Amino acid sequence: MGKGKLYIETYGCQMNFADSEVVAAILSPEYDIVDNVKDADVILVNTCSIRDNAEQRVFNRLNELTNLKNKKKHLQIGILGCMAERLKDDLFQKSNVDLIVGPDAYRMLPEILKSEISPIDVQLSQTETYKEIIPFKYEGNGVSAFVSIMRGCNNFCSYCVVPYTRGRERSREIDSILNEIQHLVNDGYKEVTLLGQNVNSYHFEDYNFATLMQIVAEKFSTTRIRFATSHPKDLSDELLEVMAKYNNICKSIHLPAQSGSTAMLKRMNRKYSREDYLNRIASIKKHLPDCAISTDLIAGFCDETEEEYQATLSLMKEVGFDFAYMFKYSMREGTAAHKHMQDNIPEEIKIKRLEEIIALQQELSHISNKKDVGKSMEVLVEGPSKRNKNQYFGRNSQNKVVIFDKGNCQKGDFVMVKITACTAATLLGELL
Ligand code: 5AD
Ligand code: SF4
Repeated sequence: MGKGKLYIETYGCQMNFADSEVVAAILSPEYDIVDNVKDADVILVNTCSIRDNAEQRVFNRLNELTNLKNKKKHLQIGILGCMAERLKDDLFQKSNVDLIVGPDAYRMLPEILKSEISPIDVQLSQTETYKEIIPFKYEGNGVSAFVSIMRGCNNFCSYCVVPYTRGRERSREIDSILNEIQHLVNDGYKEVTLLGQNVNSYHFEDYNFATLMQIVAEKFSTTRIRFATSHPKDLSDELLEVMAKYNNICKSIHLPAQSGSTAMLKRMNRKYSREDYLNRIASIKKHLPDCAISTDLIAGFCDETEEEYQATLSLMKEVGFDFAYMFKYSMREGTAAHKHMQDNIPEEIKIKRLEEIIALQQELSHISNKKDVGKSMEVLVEGPSKRNKNQYFGRNSQNKVVIFDKGNCQKGDFVMVKITACTAATLLGELL
């Protein structure tokens, strides 16, 4: 019998994209991946629960997908990831799906798809890291890849559903991380991003995140190394020293602040104050003067006063973030905020605050980009620019997108580019 045809659709964070590649690897003996959903015998949707609108998008999409069953009776549709974990068997009522598999149960997928065992497995694990599974890269650019180094989260920020959907924090064995990176390098990848909800609390035997980074940077000295995400309470000077020492570690740190107000940070259970955060920023600037700093911010969390919101704006200006992901607070069932606080900021105020935060960040990103005009920098070519096929797009060490005329180079090359102009979102340059 020939192989079945599998279509995977992924929503949410980079971790989910990395997990979908693990799923593809687990199912690769029995299924070929297809890129047209109409060809599929099995459709798996890897989902995100972080905010309500992420879940609503998936429900809308599931409506479309489950309609395909009218034409293809044997079609199996499965929900993976955070929504599977959060909503469990309620999903069988809410949509016409066949299987529900949480983030730690993907090894069971082959048996579940053969109907040998229950169609729902949402068991979380203290130990699963899928360590020996080499992810199957069925999409992506062949230049830059994600490598998961840990799973889960123990921080329990009061607004966040992740500790409930992804379970307890656990780190992957160092040898299996190095082995996966070696595979990527052998396959021609030029950049890896080490991934976890909170990479700075990586620990395996005597290794912490700083020592892991040092080992990776030394062993793969011609590969660019990035990482995400860092919790401000755990970002160590030891890591900053390692970053300063190795040219191939990119000078870019994603350090979610969430808010600029100490009182608000306390309600969010972030375990640092505004001063602690600014102290980390000062340390980054001292060790790595050319490091880009990006962040996540939430507008309209429970009881947010005008003054607290202003503190977020002033933090943004004080740090001068190069980039930010900005969100409107969305109450998630089961979190501490849901149990003990009120989602009491009116929608129109949440929207207004979010819009102002976005407008300010636009200005800050533009200021940051203008400082790069006139500089020459190394760029890793990722592929043709979407807007103009005579141009390439790539990223510099600071993770900024750089666009330039193609000239005589190829995808996967490290090239020097002189920046000649910019927008708030991109740098434009000339190949040197
Ligand atoms: N509402 C809005 N944003 C949230 N985030 C996490 N939980 C919520 C929520 N309930 C944001 C945080 C986090 C990012 C991944 O998503 O900023 O850093
Ligand atoms: Fe959520 Fe906080 Fe964990 Fe990040 S650190 S995943 S925001 S609980």
